[in-house]
Amino acid sequence: MKGLILSGGKGTRLYPLTYTRAKQLIPVANKPVLVRVIEAIREAGVREIGIVVGHTAPEIRSALGDGAQWDVSLTYIQQDSPDGLAHAVKISREFLRDDPFVMFLGDNVIQGGISQLIRDFASSDWHSQIVLKEVENPSAYGVAKLRADGSIEQLIEKPADPPSNLALVGIYMFDRHVFEAVEKIKPSARGEYEITDAIQWLVDHGCRVFPHVHRGWWIDTGKPTDMLDANSYVLEEIEPSIAECAEIDNRSLVDARVTLQAGARIINSVLRGPTIIGKDSVVENSYIGPFTSIYHGCQISNCEIERSIILENSRVCDIDATLRDSLIGRNAAINRSAGKPTGTKMNLGDHSSIWV
Ligand code: DAU
Repeated sequence: MKGLILSGGKGTRLYPLTYTRAKQLIPVANKPVLVRVIEAIREAGVREIGIVVGHTAPEIRSALGDGAQWDVSLTYIQQDSPDGLAHAVKISREFLRDDPFVMFLGDNVIQGGISQLIRDFASSDWHSQIVLKEVENPSAYGVAKLRADGSIEQLIEKPADPPSNLALVGIYMFDRHVFEAVEKIKPSARGEYEITDAIQWLVDHGCRVFPHVHRGWWIDTGKPTDMLDANSYVLEEIEPSIAECAEIDNRSLVDARVTLQAGARIINSVLRGPTIIGKDSVVENSYIGPFTSIYHGCQISNCEIERSIILENSRVCDIDATLRDSLIGRNAAINRSAGKPTGTKMNLGDHSSIWV
């Protein structure tokens, strides 16, 4: 069994963060989503992994290298334009050969990993296994309509009028029959070779495609609100720990659900978990509430933050209002203005959003 991670695409819904960074490298609970995907595949015993990359290839290569750090072997597969998930499969043929494989979208986070799914697939005679999840907004996803006996009747990509509330999760298992399917399908109305159409082709041509309905949580981290939800879910599940070289002074209150990474310093502050503070970040005279991830090298002083993600080397200082439900990029600065005239002053990147 091989793994195939899809990490190309544009990430437009996460602008402005994805102007300068691959969306799959944005951390959730201080670990990039892409690294979580690699770990889930490795936990299932799959070590040979292809990774489809687009224009953000240099950044992804420099973050992941050859994969040795995670005890996997990574092969990079360049996709020159984001022509769809089925196109990504097509160009990965040389790497995959005739081996069965698990394809995992590099922006998906799922509860419970995929080890059981892989075991089920390996011990079956299925040509493919897909994962479905009941959602409230099926039009945003590929959607499956099942028959009364649980078999697949129809799969449609982002339908305006969805026939069910079962979305396709970005985890798929295939044998070599998928290569014929991706050759046969035509681009969709949005101009992409859809994996949903390729799976429909398998169903229509007598291949056995098993639909597993997932009961835990699942997040496609396409939008900022999805990142915050995924961050909350993952923080709920990580085992809290305080690194040996983290410091908490005796005026601070840090509860049992807080994780402090190496070199983090907490001074005269209150921290309520689940929350994580990254390497060498300093929190001073502040309150950090549940579901907050502060990444490496940040400076937080004289402020209150809840349910937010703050990326590396950013500063949030001397703010009166509580910063809540926020996603702050790298090297950002949020300060109190010292001089007159008073008022709110902003230097925002393109596509930024602010609520005051
Ligand atoms: O997350 C689940 C959904 O993922 C499914 O329900 C849909 O059926 C499926 O089409 C897909 O929809 P998205 O609109 O969320 O796909 P997105 O364009 O965000 O791409 C998903 C991942 O695949 C992302 O990490 C980028 C990568 N990608 C995407 C395209 C279009 C590639 O590597 N190459 C591509 O050509």
